[in-house]
Amino acid sequence: MTVAPTTPYLRVDLDRLRRNVRRAAEWAATHRVALRPHAKTHKSPEIARLQLGSGAVGLTVATLGEAEVLARHGCDDLFVAYPLWVDERAADRLRDLAERATVAIGVDSVEGAARAGRLLAPFAVEVVVEVDSGQHRTGCRPDEAGAVAVAAARAGLRVRGVFTFPGHSYAPDGRAAAAADEARALGTARDALVRDGLEVAVVSGGSTPSWAHLDAGVVTEARPGVYVFGDAQQWELGAMPPESLALTCRATVVSHAGGRTTLDSGSKALGADRAAYATGWGRLLDHPEARIVQLSEHHAVVDLAGEPLPPVGSQVDVVPNHCCAAVNLADGLWVEEYGGLRRWPVAARGRNG
Ligand SMILES: Cc1ncc(COP(=O)(O)O)c(C=O)c1O
Repeated sequence: MTVAPTTPYLRVDLDRLRRNVRRAAEWAATHRVALRPHAKTHKSPEIARLQLGSGAVGLTVATLGEAEVLARHGCDDLFVAYPLWVDERAADRLRDLAERATVAIGVDSVEGAARAGRLLAPFAVEVVVEVDSGQHRTGCRPDEAGAVAVAAARAGLRVRGVFTFPGHSYAPDGRAAAAADEARALGTARDALVRDGLEVAVVSGGSTPSWAHLDAGVVTEARPGVYVFGDAQQWELGAMPPESLALTCRATVVSHAGGRTTLDSGSKALGADRAAYATGWGRLLDHPEARIVQLSEHHAVVDLAGEPLPPVGSQVDVVPNHCCAAVNLADGLWVEEYGGLRRWPVAARGRNG
């Protein structure tokens, strides 16, 4: 246990974190869906261990760097969930990783599959074909998944199955529709692989907003990430209630000049994400009507919606709009337990490649 650092700093409510991890694990077990949480949210071996200890089959990562850090901390089943363009350097890193962990990468084109095969086969890295279910970021058309999988198999790679990220679930009233799109796209892709004579061991989907609507009749593995902490986006989308939010940025009221309430938590602590539907730059956990209406690098101006101003020098808990972006800016998470604080390093901080 240690004394609290100078604000602003990220604070984790361990009871809430554990509850979020446990509830997702219970939901997955009840629905017979394997859970492979996305570790880009926390970049933390301690939280990875909580997830794996509650039954997660492995972890999803966004970068080889995250995979390397987590493998070093004993995580032995990792999925790099995007169509990685494999060059010589990436192939070396993947080979090293595969000595310590089961590793899979995404692929969404015939060229990408052939190239990965040239540099990696015959070799223990598996591939999962990514399909676009409506986010329009990466992923081939679901009916093209068979051709991509066949290219990977011909190039000597083992094909694990298909995956999608229904990122368009990040829209007001869009959560259930995105989950339905996800199931449709994954079902089409799975059938395309089967028609081409390939085995489909995994049908992987999931995002935090669409999680409650996931179609367990189609999806065999889910990869939510944000669910461990929650954030103002999940609160505003109605995906997570404020009582479940486990990550806040502890900030000090530094000024009342001009009748404003100004905090010392700017974009360098909270992150600068602001989705089109967001009502501000972040929320205050104990002042649900308040909104951050102005954000600069080191300051946040709060509109308290008529509530009395918290005194200068007092501290408040700010809920960042996007927890992954806030964590990516921090060296450590200050974990609150039994009234004291402990520091968990954000071990994969900065490992964005
Ligand atoms: C490929 C992929 N899978 C899973 C997730 C996790 O979803 P969420 O951040 O909504 O929890 C993401 C998030 O960006 C993602 O890009």
